[in-house]
Amino acid sequence: MHQAAYRTLGLDYVYVPFAITTERLEQAVHGMRALGIRGFGVSMPFKQQVIPWLDALEPTAAKIGAVNTIVNDDGHLTGHNTDWTGALRALEEALGSDGLRGRPTLLVGAGGAARAVAFGLVRAGADLTIANRTASKAEQLAEDVGASAARGFDALPHGVPEVIVQATSAGMSGSPTPTVVPASMLREGMTVMDIVYQPRETQLIRDAARAGARTVHGWRMLLHQAARQFELYTGRSAPLDVMDAALRESR
Ligand code: ATR
Repeated sequence: MHQAAYRTLGLDYVYVPFAITTERLEQAVHGMRALGIRGFGVSMPFKQQVIPWLDALEPTAAKIGAVNTIVNDDGHLTGHNTDWTGALRALEEALGSDGLRGRPTLLVGAGGAARAVAFGLVRAGADLTIANRTASKAEQLAEDVGASAARGFDALPHGVPEVIVQATSAGMSGSPTPTVVPASMLREGMTVMDIVYQPRETQLIRDAARAGARTVHGWRMLLHQAARQFELYTGRSAPLDVMDAALRESR
């Protein structure tokens, strides 16, 4: 995605993967400064671990407590989080900008990925309830973001939600659990997003489509979080179509 975007805009950038370890993380960050590397994308499990080595955090990344993007301004490293932006933009494609405001929204999951999405949903004004297999984690996350928590799907404070965002690892290739959202919950007129992008069509997305709900695939979030990274690294708007085509080609 990144390479295709650079090529299209004629930018003299290159995006390459590095395999590092927790033991070498601090050195890697100093190396980034020393080499004048413009930016880093950070994947699990380094999204929290990298924070002590940075000079500043963008305020929402600080609240989320996780960084997936580092921008290097002449040796000054700022940590950002584009996961929440990606989730929000993907939902706004379906609902329109400001389309989440006031909407009863159910977030399923309370892990690292769910945490970023929860901040995005609250920021967008959604009327958010969080449910998770381990209820105490849902309650903690709800408290952190200013949302409600539900114990199970039968006790949702707003009844049937208009938007459901699935942010657990269930449904991911290799996961023993195909889906955690009962198909009986899905209705016509709902918007259902699964942040799982591998496989492209999860069980939940299939169930939601069958129920007549509007679906938002996890790869739209993947695309939009990368587009936001591109903007942070280059200061240019991302050529979304080009990045989308590159993403489709790679799958
Ligand atoms: P990530 O960084 O991908 O979010 P994580 O922090 O380990 O990974 O969080 C995984 C999330 O998926 C959690 O909400 C987890 O529920 P628990 O908090 O109860 O562990 C959820 N999850 C994973 N497998 C699940 C399953 N089979 N059923 C229900 N929830 C599941």
